[in-house]
Amino acid sequence: MSYEDYPTDDPAVVTCGLPYANGDLHIGHLRGYVSADAFTRALRKLGQQAVYVCGSDMHGTPIAVEAEKEGVSPEEFALRHHEQYLETFPRFNVDFDQYGHTHDETNTELTKEFVRAWEDNGYVHEKEIDVAYDPEADQWLPDRFVEGSCPYCGEHARGDECDEGCQRHLEPGEIEDPVSTITGNPAEYRRREHKFLRLSALQEHLQGFINRVEGTSNAQNQPREWIEGELQDLCITRDMDWGIDYPGEGAEDLVLYVWVDAPIEYVSATKQYSERTDDVDWESVWKDGDGEIVHVIGRDIIQHHTVYWPAMLEAADYTEPRAVCATGFVNIDGKGLSTSKNRAIWAEEYLDEGFHPDLLRYYMTTASGFERDVNFSWDRFAERVNSELADVVGNFVYRALLFANRNFGGTPEASLSDEVETEIAQAMDDYEDALNDYDLRTAGERTVALARFGNEYIQRNEPWKLDDEAAAPVIRDCVQLVKAVAVLLHPFTPEKAEEIWTQLGEDGAAADATVADCLQEPPAEFGEPAELFTKVEDERVAELDETLQEKIEAASSDESDDEDVNDDPDVELEALADDRIGFEEFQSLDLRVGEIQSAEGIDGADDLARLEVDIGHEVRQIVAGIKQLHDLDALPGTRVVVVANLEKAELFGVESNGMVLAAGEDADLLTTHGDSVPGTKVR
Ligand code: 2FM
Ligand code: ZN
Repeated sequence: MSYEDYPTDDPAVVTCGLPYANGDLHIGHLRGYVSADAFTRALRKLGQQAVYVCGSDMHGTPIAVEAEKEGVSPEEFALRHHEQYLETFPRFNVDFDQYGHTHDETNTELTKEFVRAWEDNGYVHEKEIDVAYDPEADQWLPDRFVEGSCPYCGEHARGDECDEGCQRHLEPGEIEDPVSTITGNPAEYRRREHKFLRLSALQEHLQGFINRVEGTSNAQNQPREWIEGELQDLCITRDMDWGIDYPGEGAEDLVLYVWVDAPIEYVSATKQYSERTDDVDWESVWKDGDGEIVHVIGRDIIQHHTVYWPAMLEAADYTEPRAVCATGFVNIDGKGLSTSKNRAIWAEEYLDEGFHPDLLRYYMTTASGFERDVNFSWDRFAERVNSELADVVGNFVYRALLFANRNFGGTPEASLSDEVETEIAQAMDDYEDALNDYDLRTAGERTVALARFGNEYIQRNEPWKLDDEAAAPVIRDCVQLVKAVAVLLHPFTPEKAEEIWTQLGEDGAAADATVADCLQEPPAEFGEPAELFTKVEDERVAELDETLQEKIEAASSDESDDEDVNDDPDVELEALADDRIGFEEFQSLDLRVGEIQSAEGIDGADDLARLEVDIGHEVRQIVAGIKQLHDLDALPGTRVVVVANLEKAELFGVESNGMVLAAGEDADLLTTHGDSVPGTKVR
């Protein structure tokens, strides 16, 4: 089955994974919310009706554990964070049409309706299982109240997720060597009755779904292993007070698992939006299939959105999503974002630095494709703001509008040239194609490429050397290009696009313009423009870097005050090897300095990238498991260390001629300290 291209006649409902209402927002969060916001705005540019809904995730142990630490009730704790999110998102121009929360009445009632429907349709059963219990605290230990090792990969894991290892969802009773996070004591397993959703009965449906769903390739491929293997039923109840009470018989002391009521908030928020505006009929979208449901999520929750959620929808006779787009993570200076180490850029902190929110939006939405990791560094931030937004977009818009205003008082009377009309029309087509491929980055790049074309065009035609009559057609073309750039740029930098719109003397808002407006005539009169972007100076970057390093160091010294830990308490160091090797054996390794020339993901392989690495004597093709861990576009030019005499291997049909050395789970690439040229032997 294939879906009709956007724009369709039905409304699109775009959602983004709900943030747990348990902490401050940082750029790791913003990446998802800004991308989904930009995607919704971009769909509207195509003429697609689109609403963007979300809400705070209020229940479950992620909230209960943190509230307990603060000594407040989970409700008070979660509501406080929810209010904070309501204030923070608009400051990044993240404009939800509806932002609710999972504890509100709409979601509570709708969740209970879902569960009753599952029961009526025969998808719920009861089973006795092992549940972790802390005898000292005299308490059951659901999810984050218990830790231990993952039965699948052996890594340290939380009760319901292997967050440090294979990322699998874990069912109650699965975690090995359970330890209570309340007392730190080993936990016992005790028998207890719980309710289960029969995923096993929905296997065939899910196998069909995964072949139909659109979106990013990681969301389409990663779940196949689970869906094609034997599906375990999902435990949908927990021994807790905080949550939505189980609505049926015989489970009065149980609440629903947080992953039951959380995604139902997507439906609840749409319902609240329908009730408020009459714009969209939530039932026709969610029950009759007359809508385009697009979920934007982090890649750590693919299983929940491509296995559990479609099963929950099907079991209650609801419609499946059209697309699941899973974003990669955000790294800071090439290392994983870590809130415990304060290696993060917090939303408030970014704004306090006085940077415009649109600059970060632009970086986050166009730094890499949806599914790849984004590497954030202040250096790269400055480089992109300066060389793309200021030098290309800002410079073109300013010089075109200034010339137009000074010489013609606005758009000169002349016809649009074929060359520029064709260029704009091509950009419009490319933009539309990119969005139909859920490729926000290409849509953004295409927009900047249009502004770059504008700069070249004005440079090539040198209107300043022409009299007004000869300059008029050139400037007419440039003003049209400015208008097209404003329309196409709007989803990425909404406020800056509105500024261009105002400078152009346009009526209405850039937000309401569609791609078709790119070729509509611009106003005959407008005033003198102002510069759009201020460059970020090198000294500023140095200061920002220093502040970042200081806070990371402060966080690590705080931690070492508390406990006797190694430098990086999140990393468990592997034991040193017992067996020694001789120098000769070491010398048999031909290690060389290499320079990455190009890096691209291998289609269909979640983790693998194909690198071309210059090792002095020749350029080698090397396959490396770094696709999700690095911003591949930032890699060309990076010096690496290559094992040049490793046997060739074939990975995903691609020959790998050597190996690039990298450290740890994050594949931290080994590089050189000085300027050794490619090919230099490493001894
Ligand atoms: O992983 C998380 O942060 C969850 N709060 C996401 C929930 S998304 C949805 F399904 F509700
Ligand atoms: Zn695991």
